[in-house]
Amino acid sequence: MSYNLLKGKKGIIFGALDEKSIAWITALRCFEEGAQIVLTNAPVALRMGEINKLAETTNSIVIPCDVTSSADVENLISKSIEHFGGQFDFILHSIGMSLNVRKGKSYTEIDYGFNAKTLDISAVSLHRVLATAMKMDALKEWGSVVALTYIAAQRVFPDYNEMADAKALLESIARSFGYHYGIKNKVRVNTVSQSPTRTTAGSGVKGFDGFIDYAEKMSPLGNASAEDCANYIVTLFSDLTKMVTLQNLFHDGGFSSMGVTQGVIEKMG
Ligand SMILES: NC(=O)c1ccc[n+]([C@@H]2O[C@H](COP(=O)([O-])OP(=O)(O)OC[C@H]3O[C@@H](n4cnc5c(N)ncnc54)[C@H](O)[C@@H]3O)[C@@H](O)[C@H]2O)c1
Repeated sequence: MSYNLLKGKKGIIFGALDEKSIAWITALRCFEEGAQIVLTNAPVALRMGEINKLAETTNSIVIPCDVTSSADVENLISKSIEHFGGQFDFILHSIGMSLNVRKGKSYTEIDYGFNAKTLDISAVSLHRVLATAMKMDALKEWGSVVALTYIAAQRVFPDYNEMADAKALLESIARSFGYHYGIKNKVRVNTVSQSPTRTTAGSGVKGFDGFIDYAEKMSPLGNASAEDCANYIVTLFSDLTKMVTLQNLFHDGGFSSMGVTQGVIEKMG
């Protein structure tokens, strides 16, 4: 069902890898709500070719961008301005990658070279995207930027490994840059802290099945799906949430406020 919440709005969506990706489902919802979209992902991810199906469905163009490359980000933003015929309204940062998790390194024995790359891809990239957008005056007044995060930024989830540090940095950049962008051009910047969700990035976390079941039992509403997350992001891109900025918004069925639930107690007994 469409409410035309994004009628006339234009934006860039990072991170649609396949149809399970939160970014993929968000792109579909933004399109349904009337938005015009530019899709982007790292060249290596684009080689899979999956994104072309999404581009066709949503009538979008695809511009490659490795988010660790300033030249790629500049090219993406300038081509998007050209495509949209001027400034645009929103950006979704839906990017995460841990090299140490990939290489099977435990948190206490991480490789610092991999760690620097993880932080660059998963967190500093938000700064790079915002700084480039600001320099090129790409976003309209009251524009909205959303980045996806996880509660391991605040609480310990041992197998989330170095991504916990990356998410803490991402959330801090959202607040710090959000201040400057708010003052300069009334652009708002928020992070959405999503329930564990079965996607390529999600399933990379060790013991993910146990993890997702536990969160389901600990949340009064159960885990929020990728579709629920997409709906929430649509509201954050819409004019209905104009005064929301510098926030880390939990979208997790209530998980973040819980100590324990009856379901978990019974399981332990
Ligand atoms: N799945 C979960 O359980 C969960 C929970 C909370 C938050 N998140 C966050 O949601 C976001 C989206 O992840 P997802 O679960 O949809 O998984 P996903 O694997 O579908 O998406 C991750 C994306 O990051 C992209 N990416 C990696 N390196 C890149 C680079 N150098 N340049 C540009 N793009 C790059 C990948 O190509 C991929 O499209 C991530 O930030 C993730 O941490 C996921």
